[in-house]
Amino acid sequence: MAEFDVIIIGAGPGGYVAAIRAAQLGLKTACVEARETLGGTCLNVGCIPSKALLNATHQLHEVHENFEKMGLMGAKPTVDWDRMLRYKDDVIAGNTKGIEFLFKKNKVTWLKGWGSIPAPGQVKVGDEVHTAKNIVIATGSEASVLPGITVDEEVIVTSTGALALPKIPKSMVVIGAGVIGLEMGSVYARLGAEVTVVEYLDAITPGMDAEVAKSFQRILQKQGLKFVLGAAVQVVEKTAKGAKVTWKLRKDDSAGEIEADVVLVATGRRPYTAGLGLEALGVEMGPRGTVKTDDHFRTSVPGLYAIGDAIAGPMLAHKAEDEGMAVAEIMAGKYGHVNYGVIPGVVYTTPEVAAVGLTEEQLKDQGRAYKVGKFSFMANARAKAVFQGEGFVKMLADKETDRILGCHIIGPGAGDLIHEICVAMEFGAAAQDIALTCHAHPTYSEAVREAALACGDGAIHA
Ligand code: NAI
Repeated sequence: MAEFDVIIIGAGPGGYVAAIRAAQLGLKTACVEARETLGGTCLNVGCIPSKALLNATHQLHEVHENFEKMGLMGAKPTVDWDRMLRYKDDVIAGNTKGIEFLFKKNKVTWLKGWGSIPAPGQVKVGDEVHTAKNIVIATGSEASVLPGITVDEEVIVTSTGALALPKIPKSMVVIGAGVIGLEMGSVYARLGAEVTVVEYLDAITPGMDAEVAKSFQRILQKQGLKFVLGAAVQVVEKTAKGAKVTWKLRKDDSAGEIEADVVLVATGRRPYTAGLGLEALGVEMGPRGTVKTDDHFRTSVPGLYAIGDAIAGPMLAHKAEDEGMAVAEIMAGKYGHVNYGVIPGVVYTTPEVAAVGLTEEQLKDQGRAYKVGKFSFMANARAKAVFQGEGFVKMLADKETDRILGCHIIGPGAGDLIHEICVAMEFGAAAQDIALTCHAHPTYSEAVREAALACGDGAIHA
């Protein structure tokens, strides 16, 4: 048994960041994690491994589609799936070991095992009960599978199984056209699988600016992904070949079905708080299994905080990280704050899709007067040179004040480009501030500047 200032339960992006910051601020800190490696879902079975597979399959796509255009001739590489998975595992190991190193460097104690909270100020790990002035729940989320579907992680899989399939499937059905479905669908489509995405709503990526979502769907279709929209999946059954997905179209109740080698269920995630003992503690819960917190991440139990996927808000690693830093600062008696109005979202397909702030639909709903500045990557010299002219930058600014209200990018490097806008929005910048800033030529960033120019007197290259 040991005494700590802070014990954080969960070592994902929320928990490990909170632990490192708390230790940096002079608090005696421990972090509970049962997994063999640190980093949570993101590093072990989420963001990081999927990026490795997205990178490998993007390179494969480049070899097949674009190398000859650039005069790069020769035999095309074939895929050694086991080696590709090993590359992915090496990427995971490098990153998770990095967190272990940071824990040691910052003197964060790793309590290995499952943690529970038998009483306020106590955390039980294995047979030991540790005490802490403050406890932070950072236990993340788990795949939320539709009722009646049994996941075996081999034929009917969540993202975890999809990152480690024993072989490349010839066909795959993805249920849910959200971020996981489209990223993993892209991976397997590039590896030659016939991928069909079945989505309940009438558009892909709910919440995304509709114009961008439409263009995104068109681009993915060109890459070979098929979509069945407005379809509520009813049943997924195992068959001799793999599994069969049955749905009903929402518009007329007509039934449809498709059989595939593998079915990926990507219908969202839900907070993972089972086994913590929250009910016995009387912790107030919010909607959809979230732990209810106030603006300072405090739960209804004094000294008990919660952050990340376990609480309300977008289930994004970087949102959890920001909350981790903020909660550590609050516990250390400092000022911690997260600006939820400026949290970027990125889909790591090719092209990438990135967004921050409000969508055009949200502005319309709010009845706000706004203007739109758009610029196509087709008119961006750098993008054209690398066969990435598809997509555009769409900037939304207040009609009167020119203040940037949102930005939506589909195109090369969108996930990096978006941060210029995030910084601008944090400073309350106007589109003109971006337009008047010199941007190096030739870069993709020029498209962002041109979209800002389009909010004023007009883009130059349009
Ligand atoms: P999601 O919430 O993004 O998408 C789920 C989709 O499934 C929705 O479009 C929904 O309409 C659809 N759906 C639900 N029930 C259905 C049914 N019965 N039939 C057909 N479609 C149905 O969830 P996803 O993709 O599973 O991701 C989970 C979380 O992880 C999200 O919060 C996401 O933001 C996060 N994530 C973020 C990534 C990133 O930032 N690049 C990467 C991967 C995940």
